[in-house]
Amino acid sequence: MVHKTLQGLIAAAAMGALVSAQQPGNVTAEVHPELPTWKCTTDGGCVEQKTSIVLDWNYRWFHNEDASASCTTSTGVDPTLCPDQETCTQNCYVEGVDYAASGITTDGNALTLRQFVADAETGELKSVSPRAYLLDESGDYVSLQLLNQELSFDVDLSTLPCGENAALYLSEMDLTGGRSASSPGGAAYGGAYCDAQCPVQNWNNGTLNTDKVGSCCNEMDILEANSFAEAFTPHPCIDDSCDKGGCGFNSYAKGNKQYFGPGLTLDTSKPFTMVTQFITDDGTANGKLTTITRYYVQNGQKVASAVEGGDSITADACSSAEPYGKLQGMGEALGRGMVLALSIWNDAGGFMNWLDSGSNGPCTETEGDPALIQANAPDSQVVLSNIRWGDIDSTLESA
Ligand SMILES: *[C@@H]1O[C@H](CO)[C@@H](O)[C@H](O)[C@H]1NC(C)=O
Ligand SMILES: *[C@@H]1O[C@H](CO)[C@@H](O)[C@H](O)[C@H]1NC(C)=O
Repeated sequence: MVHKTLQGLIAAAAMGALVSAQQPGNVTAEVHPELPTWKCTTDGGCVEQKTSIVLDWNYRWFHNEDASASCTTSTGVDPTLCPDQETCTQNCYVEGVDYAASGITTDGNALTLRQFVADAETGELKSVSPRAYLLDESGDYVSLQLLNQELSFDVDLSTLPCGENAALYLSEMDLTGGRSASSPGGAAYGGAYCDAQCPVQNWNNGTLNTDKVGSCCNEMDILEANSFAEAFTPHPCIDDSCDKGGCGFNSYAKGNKQYFGPGLTLDTSKPFTMVTQFITDDGTANGKLTTITRYYVQNGQKVASAVEGGDSITADACSSAEPYGKLQGMGEALGRGMVLALSIWNDAGGFMNWLDSGSNGPCTETEGDPALIQANAPDSQVVLSNIRWGDIDSTLESA
């Protein structure tokens, strides 16, 4: 599906209406894989939305006008083509992508993200590690306003070994993807990524990042998991300062080592449904976020919680977020609306030990080495499906 606005932009570019760039190139058409989602209310049930998936901007080919040279290098941008924002804008084009070759396919309401893909020409396996966002029909990001709401989806983590991280999370990105006259691609080309780790990127909110600033924003990690360990974590920010560690919930770290894993209480060798609720102090979307709760459904049954009283993060227990107003800042971001990000990745620096090793999970400190994963688990993928959000207790028919 090519969005109307995008067709308009390409037509405008072809007519020379736009003299400056980071505008869409014409080598590969940008065709967003469709991924319907549902918005639910207590009274009205669930209504299907025509949503789609867009690959992140950083994964794309930026090139000069005749596509003979790249505007990016392994360490940044080409100093001749992109010495400054204005020149770069005139010289460079952002290209569409082949989604399957980037590790992204959809089938009905199911999205599959693959860590590795075989190169079409050489057959050689390469790590593609896609990161993508949910788009609306107009070509902007969908704004998920989840304060006093819930989000549910089905997930299949069965192929994911120690060291992999399948992630479904929310970042408070610009909903237009930093779209402007000099960068008309915007969200339709996956622009304006930010998160609470404040990544330093070549572009920051659609503008060349000459000052090498970090792109910081509120982030709520709903799912970060492989088949052996899982965490959900709020990461609030104030300006350029963020709670990078976050007060996450990981059932293994909380002492229940028999909960999450193949054949365990929540059996990760099979798909299951995850429901996350953002509860406020007054039961309305005007209240303060006090608790983030989680439950699971598998084989049609609600799964017992990992800890007594239910799996949750409460404002009072969230000590790392104290400088950020505990959960209040996170709640305000959820109230304003955040962008749904979906990714699969591994970690050459730390082998994902923070998620699944030592006190966090049963994995050894070294088995998360990406080279080992590529050799032993070339089919590593996550399937995310049936994404729904809306009023508390409205997204699942039963449970
Ligand atoms: C589009 O393709 C033509 C060749 O068919 C090329 O001359 C032109 O520079 C390209 N334009 C952009 C914006 O990439
Ligand atoms: C991001 O870019 C958009 C489009 O140019 C702009 O409207 C918005 O204010 C920018 N956001 C920030 C945080 O700079």
